[in-house]
Amino acid sequence: MLPAGLLSTAYIAASVLFILSLGGLSRQETARRGNLYGIIGMVIAVLATAGYATGAFEGVAGIELSGAGMGVLAGAVLPGALIGAMLAARVAMTSMPELVAVLHSFVGLAAVLVGISSYMDPGLPVPAGEETIHEIEIFIDIFIGAITFTGSIIAFLKLRGSMSGKPLLLPGRHLLNLAMVVGCIYLGWAYTGQANHGGLTELLIMTGIAGVIGMHMVMAIGGADMPVVVSMLNSYSGWAAAAAGFMLKNDALIVTGALVGSSGAILSYIMCKAMNRSFFSVILGGFGSDGGAPAPSGGAAQPQGEVQEFSVDDTVEMLREAKSVVIVPGYGMAVAQAQHSLAQVIKELQKKKIEVRFAIHPVAGRLPGHMNVLLAEANVSYDIVLEMDEINEDFPETDAVLVIGANDIVNPSALDDPSSPIAGMPVLEVWNAKTVVVMKRGMSSGYAGIQNPLFFKENTRMLFGDAKTNVDNILGALR
Ligand code: TAP
Repeated sequence: MLPAGLLSTAYIAASVLFILSLGGLSRQETARRGNLYGIIGMVIAVLATAGYATGAFEGVAGIELSGAGMGVLAGAVLPGALIGAMLAARVAMTSMPELVAVLHSFVGLAAVLVGISSYMDPGLPVPAGEETIHEIEIFIDIFIGAITFTGSIIAFLKLRGSMSGKPLLLPGRHLLNLAMVVGCIYLGWAYTGQANHGGLTELLIMTGIAGVIGMHMVMAIGGADMPVVVSMLNSYSGWAAAAAGFMLKNDALIVTGALVGSSGAILSYIMCKAMNRSFFSVILGGFGSDGGAPAPSGGAAQPQGEVQEFSVDDTVEMLREAKSVVIVPGYGMAVAQAQHSLAQVIKELQKKKIEVRFAIHPVAGRLPGHMNVLLAEANVSYDIVLEMDEINEDFPETDAVLVIGANDIVNPSALDDPSSPIAGMPVLEVWNAKTVVVMKRGMSSGYAGIQNPLFFKENTRMLFGDAKTNVDNILGALR
């Protein structure tokens, strides 16, 4: 038998480790350590909960599973951990949002199942006078859990391309959502206070309606906003877990759920701000089209003059003559997987005493931190990787900018064309540098589906072709 105090100590230790983990994950240099804290915290929390369930703590009335119960627990946890580890190890960076969406659906489903079973059999006796509170906790847990479950499945299918990215805009959809929420509240009122889990039918009908709300809400959101939706569902899954924590009287679950819930909400807010979208316009849906590449009207998609082409040799000559170089990576670098060759190019330039830095836009690529992860994978030193706010003012003193597979994040119309769909989005002001070389395959638009006047500026040169092939050729010439 373990001392009773050890259970609370383990939960507190796990909660502290989760907080340290979030703190660590907020900076590239400390992200690995943050991840490790999270893993240790989760191992402690799982072990402590398993100990609680098996009645291992002295004087703590756990569920005291039978031998068969323990077998079921082990039979669920071990293969689950193995499958999770295998899937996470094999997933490509670009498929990460899909994996995250699927994992959120599991949290939602778990919340629903635990809620229903807790209603049927609370496990621990509910203190007299707290029955209604317990019922409300179950109701909220299942409501949020069902929305998260079905919403995450739709998000997964959309991200995978198994379902159209086009928003489904039913007439009167806001009214429909409102009617469904009101229906759920009515069912909640009808379900509370019934003896012998007599409210199960209402609870199950509410679960079905909440599932439809989740599906309908995410179906109304276009491909362009899917990453924000994933972080929003992340937030919901946290709140579902926190509600389950209240229901099960598990402090670790309450703290963890609140941490996930609030960090997901903050991430959604940051992403909306960086994409110049309001949180409510994302939730209310409608922006974006198939394949995650929206083509909003209003942006000039026609060419705006002549572009000036550069060859690999011209680019190398420009780099050799420069004292300071800034590289702006974007989605195209991820597609081409040019980061490893690029890391070699940087080493060559540094050998020639040229200052090289990276400028990272908060929504470069397709997921938060996309570029940072790729550069870390290529062992690019963190101290030359700067955020947009840290480097934007340095462009006037920069000799050469290499834009590698980026488009929207360097589009000047965000600042000087109020009619542009991306008007107001903060961008990297690369055009203030002496020369800008844009590396891309052709003149196609980026994610926002709009023309980029940067390509036609006097100090811009276009180096056409696949980013990896061109970076390899630059590397060859530099060596
Ligand atoms: P984009 O604006 O999407 O532009 C990427 C460019 O890369 C394209 O114009 C494409 O032009 C080029 N490209 C594609 N494959 C290439 C290859 N193999 N070699 C060379 N170039 C290639 O990317 P960005 O500048 O990174 O901006 C990100 C966009 O995604 C923003 O609009 C942002 O709002 C949106 N978004 C971001 C996120 C997050 S969280 N990061 C989430 C959702 C949406 P070519 O076809 O001509 O080569």
